[in-house]
This record gives sequence, structure tokens and C-alpha cells, in this order.
Amino acid sequence: MKKVQFTETVLRDANQSLIATRLPYEKFEPILETMDKAGYYSIECWGGATFDVCLRYLNEDPWERLRKIRAKMPNSKLQMLFRGQNVLGYKHYPDDVVRKFVEYSIKNGIDIIRIFDALNDVRNLEVAIDETNKQGGHASGTICYTTSPVHTLEKYVEMVKELKKMDVKSICIKDMAGIMTPQEAYDLCSAIKDAVPDLPLVVHTHSTTGFAFMTYMKAVEAGADVIDTAISPFSGGTSQPATETLAFALKQMGYETGLDEGKLTEIADYFKPIRDNYVADGTLMPKSLITDTQCITYQMPGGMISNLLSQLKMMNALDKFDEALAETPKVRADMGYPPLVTPTSQMVGVQAVTNVLQGERYKKVSSEIRAYCRGEYGRTPAPIDPDIKKKILGDTPEVEGRYADSLEPQFEKTKKELGDKAKCDEDVLSYIAFPEVAEKFYSARREKEENHAKYTIVKE
Ligand code: CO
Repeated sequence: MKKVQFTETVLRDANQSLIATRLPYEKFEPILETMDKAGYYSIECWGGATFDVCLRYLNEDPWERLRKIRAKMPNSKLQMLFRGQNVLGYKHYPDDVVRKFVEYSIKNGIDIIRIFDALNDVRNLEVAIDETNKQGGHASGTICYTTSPVHTLEKYVEMVKELKKMDVKSICIKDMAGIMTPQEAYDLCSAIKDAVPDLPLVVHTHSTTGFAFMTYMKAVEAGADVIDTAISPFSGGTSQPATETLAFALKQMGYETGLDEGKLTEIADYFKPIRDNYVADGTLMPKSLITDTQCITYQMPGGMISNLLSQLKMMNALDKFDEALAETPKVRADMGYPPLVTPTSQMVGVQAVTNVLQGERYKKVSSEIRAYCRGEYGRTPAPIDPDIKKKILGDTPEVEGRYADSLEPQFEKTKKELGDKAKCDEDVLSYIAFPEVAEKFYSARREKEENHAKYTIVKE
């Protein structure tokens, strides 16, 4: 029998895409045991923005959240999203930090680490993949999907072969903007399956443009082994398409999904009122749920278009919207066609607006764009326009080789500096990732514990 499996995203990507990752642990705890028995390939529950948001807004220790999920889900494969050398942040970290983060993610309960690089520079994936293998985890080597004159099937296949050499346990196509069409998915999945037939192929997309259901169908037809979906109350729009719908359709077409339909219904029933509450309080906005074909026309993620709008609004320059929109693909081409994903999407968008408002291109550039031109983020898919690079960099030297090789080890040094502020190595890692936020979180935690201690003494 033909087989296709499902990764459930409600706890991570759906949560992140629809309600800015605001789902606290207590809200989903009661359903974890049911989810554990539903027959998913894996449950994406950690990494991406969850880490930052736990500390910054939810007053939760992300590591503790992971351990609690692990305890409630002994049978499931728990999955996280990892930004290669950027770990869970927005800049490159030294290798010792990348390795420690992978080590502790796995020690605290993660099975599968989906590792990507915003520029598809495999040198930025190597350390994380190597450490995942060393720790006995499953490294899923990931391609960020984008289209441009230099993003050909051959280039993607080349990348996949590189990943196989690094001993990844599966390949993932990550279409973060939902722009991959059914035909493109069919062609890419077929090419990848031809190149590395023994590696499971996972496809990840978003419903933003409305392609997603069709895209998954064609991907599965071409041999994709796993698709990413979200339980129906948290599906659609900027999230993934619905788990139940695809499970039903594919089963009817003769695929074995391994999913328990009764359990899926229970999970959907559980999340419905939670979704309704987020709609009622305005956290879940209708605009996140509608189909938006602008992203097809402009070949950029939906989030970027709304960012352009809000930037121009802040500067009282909404009349420049069309110009800024036209400038964005030009900046992307100048910069060597980076895939538009965090952090490159922000960098390109901001530069396009700046170019238009200044009336002269690249008169002003952000420190991030300067770092990008120096090579701090890695190798660009195509060369950066040499004249523009010269204008931006002047005499500043470019990075030679891999940027992380020039960074000093950071973990032991930070651990010493923190002293007893950090209770464990996980605390040190949280601090390295988000110093101010983690510090605030730890002092709040200390206060809570001290109060608790006082209270206990009085009671006794
Ligand atoms: Co996604």
C-alpha cells in the first residue's frame, strides 16, 4: 500500500503563523496525551519563535516546556525548527554554542531537528547536522524554497546531495511563503527522489496563496513521504492546510496515513474553543485566514508586504507603496537573490523602503545589510552586484571563508560570567540567545522562588 505520513504543526508553526506564538503550555497540556496516540509521523512543538516568545511574553522557561511535552508524549517524535548557525536567533553564533544548543535540545526531549539556512549555504548547516548525529538525533536537512533565475532544479538537487554527504536522515523542502505551485512541487520532489531515493522527503508549505492542498497532492504523487499540516481549527491562511482534510482525501486515494480519525476529531474539538477565544480577543485576525494572491504576483512572502505597508505608514509615505513594492525585487536581485525568510526578508524589505525614501539607491544601508555584503550570513545564491557592494562596503574587508570560524567560543565564558544567576547549562543557552529577556526572566523566577520560600516558612 502507498504510504504518506503527517507532521502536526499546531503547537509550533500554526501557533506562530496565526497567533504570534502566544499559546501558553497550560492551554494545550490536556490534549497532549491524545495527540500522542493519533499516529503522527512527528509533532512540531519547539524552536522557531517559540523559544523567544516563551521567555519574552509567556513567562515560561522554554526548556521546561519541552520537558513537560516530552513527559506527556512518550510515544511521539518531537520536532523542532533550527536556524542553522543562527540557532534560534537572528545572527550567527560560534560553533560551541550551536553544538551545546543541539545537545541540550536532544537531552531535553527533541527527536528530529529541522535545520535550515536563510541563504541555503550548506556550510551553515554542517555543525548543527554533525552534532545532531553525534547526539543520536534525526537531522532533517532543509532547503529554503524560493524562485529566481539562479534557483534551478539542478541547484536544489546539488544541495540535496551535499546534505546527504553530511549524513542527514531526511530532506525537507521548506516553502515558508506558500509560493510553491503544484507543478513546481511535482518537479522538485521528483528530482529529489531521483537523486536521493533512500532519504525520506518532507514537504512544508503554507496556505497563504491557496496553493497548499494542491501542492501537497502533487508532492505526494511525486513521492513525498511526509507533509506538514495543522489540525483544522488552526489551519488555513498563513498556517498549514488542515490535517483531517488531507488525511481523508489521501486515504480515499489509497494512501495509508497511519492517522486515527477518531483521535483527530478529539484534537479538533479540543482546539476549536481555544481558536474561538483568540478570534474574540483579536489575537487571531481575519486577515491571517484569508487567501492572499498578492504573494504570487510579487513573489514575496505575505508578511513582507504588510511590513512594507506599516513601515511606509509610520513614515507618512504610503503614497510610495507602489514604488517600494517595485524596488523590493530589484534589491533582492542586487543582493544575489537570497530566499526571503528571517532575517533576509526584513533586510531586503527595509532596504527597498530606504532606497525609495532617500531618492538615491543605497545612500543609506542598515548594519545588517553591510554585514550581509561582508559575507557574515554566508554565501549568496548569486554574486552581489559588484558596484553596489563597493558602494556599501568601501574599504571594509570581506569575510574570508565561513564567518563562524572567526567567532570566539562563547559558552564557557558566558557561563563563568553568569555565575549563580544561571542554574544550569540550559539557562546559559537562553541567556546567549536572548540576553536581556533571559535576565529579566531569571530575576522574576528568583523573586517568585524567594517569595515562595518566605510563604512556606510563615506557614510552617
Ligand atoms: Co513554516
